[in-house]
Parts: sequence; structure tokens; C-alpha cells
Amino acid sequence: MSQWPDRRILDLFGIELPILQAPMAGPGTPELAIAVCEAGGLGSLPCAQLSVEQAQPAVETLRRGTARPINLNFFCHTPPAADPARERAWRERLAPYYQEFGLDPTAVPPGAARQPFDERYCALVEACRPEVVSFHFGLPAAPLLARVKAAGARVIASATTVAEARWLQARGVDAVIAMGLEAGGHRGNFLGEDMARQVGSFALVPQIADAVRLPVIAAGGIADGRGIAAAFALGAAAVQIGTAYLFCPETRTPPWHRQALKDAADDDTVVTNIFTGRPARGILNRAIRELGPMAVEAPPFPTAAAALAPLKAWSEAAGSGDFSNLWSGQAARLGREMPAAALTRLLAEEALARMK
Ligand SMILES: Cc1cc2nc3c(=O)[nH]c(=O)nc-3n(C[C@H](O)[C@H](O)[C@H](O)COP(=O)(O)O)c2cc1C
Repeated sequence: MSQWPDRRILDLFGIELPILQAPMAGPGTPELAIAVCEAGGLGSLPCAQLSVEQAQPAVETLRRGTARPINLNFFCHTPPAADPARERAWRERLAPYYQEFGLDPTAVPPGAARQPFDERYCALVEACRPEVVSFHFGLPAAPLLARVKAAGARVIASATTVAEARWLQARGVDAVIAMGLEAGGHRGNFLGEDMARQVGSFALVPQIADAVRLPVIAAGGIADGRGIAAAFALGAAAVQIGTAYLFCPETRTPPWHRQALKDAADDDTVVTNIFTGRPARGILNRAIRELGPMAVEAPPFPTAAAALAPLKAWSEAAGSGDFSNLWSGQAARLGREMPAAALTRLLAEEALARMK
């Protein structure tokens, strides 16, 4: 497609459509990524919630499923030091729910693991040689980053402010994902923590486009062709779309999450730290209403998830998402239920029709 007004990302990644399917730890699957790649976009495999042993077969499935460029995504947080006092306070805060559900508070299994990119994931990247690697929460240490680049990957990472975009550019990324506050899932912030200062996409995308010489990928609240055309008008060379893909049959979006997405109004999402200890945007539910949205007791990322895990498992077994992280951006009601390849092509057609 030659009609796109900015071809920088298309040429950089070797893709046909400037649409990146966002990596979404949890619901994201190789099948989703394959469908998007085959439709001409960039499919992404979220690896943050997969151990290396789990990521390996998923990467193999993805490579077998498409010969087109792929993106592997990793988190870059620093694991926190143990904080027993805070952990205790969090468990005390959750104790009434354990009582309500008849759960044993001493038998708390670990929550979903969220490992930062390390030596072993790097070896996986070197073996798989993905065309693109994306990072969330900053970048790995310079020697690891150098190895990723030496393996031939284009490196991209999320920025939630101009300062973060400049920081990423100074460390050699190939493109910046400008993540506006509308976006679903964990905020990608890594230089500042004040959620009251988060910037919306309409203000963020053009300011980052002006501040860096790299192509910008807009993320947050984009769910149809209007959003894509607007992102290009603001200076983006591509978009990264998450929430709109949660409606596709190729995702592992559980039924309670799917229903909540279908029912979500524009103002039904909030930024909360209660599920993992790190601010993330999700649909309001009982847990957020009663514990958050921002709980001072929540231990740092990702440890808050462990004590909440039994409550999540208990309510999910009863078919409820009351204690689940129902990640969603602000544009959920623009979502359409259709296969991911059809959605990718439709998004591109709608955007091009608007940009004529
Ligand atoms: C369910 C869900 C899980 C997410 N998990 C990740 C992740 O593992 N890695 C990542 O870089 N971004 C993750 N994100 C953020 C997306 O990459 C993207 O920035 C965001 O979805 C864009 O906003 P939108 O949801 O409004 O389209 C996640 C988003 C959602 C909705």
C-alpha cells in the first residue's frame, strides 16, 4: 500500500500496514499475532508473563505460523526488594475478602509471574531473531540491549512523556511508542510515577514527534480508522492497538473480561495499582471500587498480585471478574467482534478512506 502518508515504520519493519497489534500479556496469543502478521500488520507476542520455557514454544508457533516480521515484547522493571511490612499491610487489607470467600490466608500461592528481560530471554531473542523487539517500562541494561540489536531486531519501547521519548532515543531505540493515558494495561512510565500528570494521546503524540527524530507509534484509545487517521495527522507513522483486538476470537480474553469490554462505557475505566502494584488502566469492578483505585498498601510491582491471586481465582471460578484485572483502554465501546485479520484490514481501509 503506497497511499500511507508516512512510510517510515513500514520500511523500518518491512510490513504492509502501519498497524501494530499491541502485545497483551494474558490475553495475547501466537494465533492473534499470526493473524495480524498475515493481514499485513505487525503481530506481537507478549512474553512478560511467560517463563523462558513457556515463551519458547509460543515463539516457535508464531514463527511456524507466519513468514512475516514479528515482534517479541518484554518488561524491563527492576524487581523490588522484599518489604515484609507492606506485604503484611496488604494481606490485612485483603483479609475480609479471604474471610468472605472462606479462603485460607496462609495458603497464598504466587500470582502470575512477571519477569524482567534478562540473560535467558535474550538468548531466546538471539535464537529466534525477531524482526522487532519491544520493551515496556524502559530498556534493559546496555549490554543486553546491544545483544538484541546485534541479533538484528529493530528495538521499540513505550514512552509516556517527552522526557521518556528523549531518554529512549539517547539509548538507541529505532522508534518510540507514544503511549497516551487512554491506553489499556500497565502505563509504560519509567521516569516519573505521578499518575495525575499523565498525558493524553492528542497532546503527547505531536509533542513527542517534535522532540525526537525517530518515527513515532501512537498508542492509546485508537480503535478504528478515525483514530488511526488522527494519529497520522498528529505526526505518528504507525499505531499500536490493544483493546480493540481483545474482542477477536484469537485472544484468550476470558468471558467475564469480554462481557465487561462489551458493556464498558467511555468513563468505565480507571488507572489502578491494586492488581500488580503498578498503575494500569482497567474496567472498574468490585476490587477497584473497594480497594482502590490507588491503594497505598499495595506492594511494589509485581508483588501485589500474589495476595490477590486466590481472590481472583475464587471469583473467576464462579464466573465473575470482580477481582480480576480487566485491562482496557478508554475506547472499548468502539470495539468490534471479528477475526483479527479482518479487523486489521478493516482498520487500514477505514484509515485510508479518511486520509484521502
Ligand atoms: C489487556 C492488555 C494487556 C497489555 N499488556 C501489555 C504487555 O504485556 N506489554 C506491553 O508492552 N503493553 C501491554 N499493554 C499495553 C499495549 O501495548 C498498548 O499500549 C495499549 O493497549 C494501547 O491502548 P489501547 O488499549 O487503548 O489500544 C496491554 C494492554 C492491554 C489492554
